[in-house]
Amino acid sequence: MQLTITRTETLKPKPDENQLGFGTLFTDHMLNVDYTPDRGWHDPRIEPYAPISMDPATMFLHYGQGVFEGLKAYHTDSGGIQLFRPGENIKRMNRSCRRMCMPELDPHFALESLKALIAVEKDWVPKAPGTSLYVRPTMIATDPFLGVRASHTYRYFIILSPVGAYYPEGFNPVKILVTKDYVRAVRGGVGEAKTPGNYAASLLAGQKAHDEGYTQVLWLDGVEQKYLEEVGAMNIFFVIDGEIVTPELNGSILPGITRKSVIELARKWGDPVSERKISIDELMAANEQGKLQEAFGAGTAAVISPVGEIKYGERMISIAEGKVGPVARKYYDAITDIQYGKAEDPMGWIEPVT
Ligand SMILES: Cc1ncc(COP(=O)(O)O)c(C=O)c1O
Repeated sequence: MQLTITRTETLKPKPDENQLGFGTLFTDHMLNVDYTPDRGWHDPRIEPYAPISMDPATMFLHYGQGVFEGLKAYHTDSGGIQLFRPGENIKRMNRSCRRMCMPELDPHFALESLKALIAVEKDWVPKAPGTSLYVRPTMIATDPFLGVRASHTYRYFIILSPVGAYYPEGFNPVKILVTKDYVRAVRGGVGEAKTPGNYAASLLAGQKAHDEGYTQVLWLDGVEQKYLEEVGAMNIFFVIDGEIVTPELNGSILPGITRKSVIELARKWGDPVSERKISIDELMAANEQGKLQEAFGAGTAAVISPVGEIKYGERMISIAEGKVGPVARKYYDAITDIQYGKAEDPMGWIEPVT
């Protein structure tokens, strides 16, 4: 597929790198690619960032047949731009596509077109400490049709957004709420796919948690409401009696790339780590026995997000005295140092763009 590039005539002003938030500013260009059954994926083009015009009957708008990804491009001290494990995002997107009856992308094309877009937008990758360029590949069903079936046509696009440091004032442990009123995903559902409906399903519980003063919801499984699954839009880790523990992938948990990276680093370093079922009762008991040493979320946005407090029903537990534990700190430093090119990349996780 021949990628064409049409440059905009007017560049947007670049933002102040020290004032960047998350997800509000977008760069000058985007990638668009179309799919039809007869031509497959075709007409890949980098063109000026612009609204997408859609028929009001477009299937994605009605039935949510869509998938997306989230990753970041980082500026290194030596002036290069690099991505962290983009091949993993592409694999996950293709798995999401299979679950949502959508056509997969050729992984080589997906990576090369993503890198080409970032190369065009290289001046948008911020350089201030902790900042990055967030990359949002998205695929949507585009048939104008009101009936529940898989669409025949699709649009794939990538947009880019410069984002600020997640911890401008340093690591800040968060308070999280375990809810029994709502679940995020169920066995046999679409929890392990990165599809918009999962996020829509999480909003009300998230809002209620915020209203009560909590940052995130710690989700229980959707069948027995007994086992821990994820925290907000992150995977969850605990340190119990010296062992790093995370819920095993069961079909309703999103297989995070940060999660995978923590596990792979732990195995490389010889830190005890296991993926298994963890019940909320086990967690509460571990806390009572003084064995629950740390809890932290893991995801692209924050990398590691220490948890200082968990509320479950009437019970409230404080973890690591509400401070940042040494395991959270060690994995945060190791992963961010690789992402920003401050440390060697012994795992082969870095994909250079320029
Ligand atoms: C529901 C959910 N779980 C976990 C994660 C963490 O995944 P990753 O580490 O690939 O960002 C994300 C973010 O993408 C998410 O949306």
